[in-house]
Amino acid sequence: MLTLSLFDVDPEDATAAKRAAQLREELNEHSHRYHVLDAPTISDAEYDALLRELRVLEAAHPALITPDSPTQRVGAPSAEGFAKVAHPRPILSLANAFDAADVRAWRERLLRHAESLGLTERMAATRFVVEPKIDGLTVVLTYRDGVFVQGATRGDGAVGEDITANLRTLRHVPLALRRSAHPPAPSMLVVRGEAFVTLADFEHMNEKLRSADEKTFANPRNFAAGALRQIDPAATARRPLTAFFYNVVITDGTTAPTQWESLQWLRALGLPVSDIAQRCDDLEAAIAYCESYVARRDELPFEIDGMVIKIDDLALAEQLGYVGKDPRGALAFKFPAREATTLLRDVAISIGRTGNITPAAVLDPVQVGGVTITNATLHNYEDITRKDIRIGDRVIVRRAGDVIPYIAGPVIAARTGIEQPIQPPTQCPFCGTPLVKREGEVALYCTNDECAGKVDRAMQHYAGRSAMDIEGLGEKIVAQLIDAGLVTDVADLYALHKDQLQPLEKFAAKKTQNLLDAIAASRERPLERLLIGLGIRHVGEVAARALARRYGSIDALLAASTDELQQIDGVGPIIAEGVTAWAARPATRALIAKLQTAGVNPTQEPQIDAVIEPPQGSFAGKVFVITGTLSQPREEIAAWIEERGGKVTDSVSKKTSYVVIGDDPGRSKVDKAMKLEIPTIDETALRALA
Ligand code: IVH
Repeated sequence: MLTLSLFDVDPEDATAAKRAAQLREELNEHSHRYHVLDAPTISDAEYDALLRELRVLEAAHPALITPDSPTQRVGAPSAEGFAKVAHPRPILSLANAFDAADVRAWRERLLRHAESLGLTERMAATRFVVEPKIDGLTVVLTYRDGVFVQGATRGDGAVGEDITANLRTLRHVPLALRRSAHPPAPSMLVVRGEAFVTLADFEHMNEKLRSADEKTFANPRNFAAGALRQIDPAATARRPLTAFFYNVVITDGTTAPTQWESLQWLRALGLPVSDIAQRCDDLEAAIAYCESYVARRDELPFEIDGMVIKIDDLALAEQLGYVGKDPRGALAFKFPAREATTLLRDVAISIGRTGNITPAAVLDPVQVGGVTITNATLHNYEDITRKDIRIGDRVIVRRAGDVIPYIAGPVIAARTGIEQPIQPPTQCPFCGTPLVKREGEVALYCTNDECAGKVDRAMQHYAGRSAMDIEGLGEKIVAQLIDAGLVTDVADLYALHKDQLQPLEKFAAKKTQNLLDAIAASRERPLERLLIGLGIRHVGEVAARALARRYGSIDALLAASTDELQQIDGVGPIIAEGVTAWAARPATRALIAKLQTAGVNPTQEPQIDAVIEPPQGSFAGKVFVITGTLSQPREEIAAWIEERGGKVTDSVSKKTSYVVIGDDPGRSKVDKAMKLEIPTIDETALRALA
């Protein structure tokens, strides 16, 4: 047997050993400052230099390599896959509450149970800790003498899988616990936490996978699960996972008396702990804190599916015991799920007033985020193909924050083989005209100005409250008028006659007269309302007002040039282009003439001074680049930005003020924004800036 004593080590090795220990300590300290505290004190380059020095030392003296060396984060893949690990204590789950009443009922049960155990006073005295319930994957970590030795998944709660090598690659998992903690790290410590991916990293990774033509992940949880179960730790290392810890499962040292102190201790040991965790004096305060996050969950950089309320007094919690697998002393306050799976029955095709064709999912009704969903957008056909969504699939429906419900993807595992691929239409389903794709856009368009579908939408828009405000001319009546062949454009409305309407179903004399009166009254609407009603591409309320002020009449507007239009405050190149393209169409000229003959020709005094005013809007001087799908077509968002004095360009440069990131953003734009350190914002943030 070979034994080593200090006397056998040559002096050079002793110096190397000392330096290696010092470097390890320093590097681990800096890594903690960087990843856990988010407060680095040295630059990345300085860190890399120290790490390089340690690598060189270790290469020369392999005996100096220790398991907690920062050079040892990424190990070799194991040939046997994941070994089974029996948990030292079963990994339990939590009972759920869905509202304040459920939490209060929990308290009543607890009080009764505490009374039966003679713990009434303790129960009355305890505080509560509220923590975020992160939607990730449970991990159980073992530290021996302060060194990370084993990490496992939850598995069935009794036996998990050994994912030590993978967990070592997480920068938020300390390889060695901090020695400065009080009490110090015990000889044996088992902690429990949640490994997860931040939403920003998740979106960024999905984008990378997409551009490599690989399958994307439907949600952050699936991503984290996939990342942790990589056979090759190097593959896990490439996925940006992070973790929070919230529970001391086993310690052979002093135990903290409260959950709150336990969290502080975990933090002092160098383990990341959520800073949203809060101690509350009583349960009502805990409930209020939970409820405050229902609205704030969208502001968090990670996905939570609720909050966890825990009895602060740990000895009391232990004495209260368990019901089945759930500890009595803790409760999950669940938020409405934002995701559910359901059957995709069919794809409906809708048309917008500009002729844009949008596929929509027809779903078996399902509850998502507290609302029953039967339809969800499928964005466009390219998106359907990329996500490989088929009719008959079980699909994941998501509804996050104020975003409209959409289909995140199919549940591939649920496929039976009878699912049908979805073919994009080649002809307009309303008029049969071949559909076209515009340069640089993914949407399909019907170009027929007489398309019944388009006329229907255009007429509804024309009659809308912010446009010509024709009361009584809603969706159903518009459809009736078109079906009866009474109208083919909005100008026909003014030629309608009582005798034509009364034979229609549900058109009593009074209703008929009211509708005719409302149509007649719309002749008096100001020019800006007419401009909105005509549905000129990209012209919203603000631009319509600016155009009406500057030109005073439709005829003057029809004669305007792109250059001249662009000089107007609130009109950028996109809106100007929309106006001139509209004015150039013979169908526009014909419709205007018809409207004028029908007595619809509002005028006002033109105000030439509206020209060459510097942009005044909230986006004045700001340049935006949009990437990915937002809640409205990109051009509409661009026009909305222009109306506020901002500009939208196609490529990211030093002049860009913000990059707006939607669903499925373009990788190169995101990368460029990062490189040039241009702030990236989502649609909610963009709206908030206005
Ligand atoms: S406490 C006995 N605290 O939610 C203690 N769990 O059903 C039970 N989770 O998958 C767990 N964040 O991993 C606790 N702050 C938190 C949590 C949390 C997420 C997960 C947990 C488990 C599920 C509970």
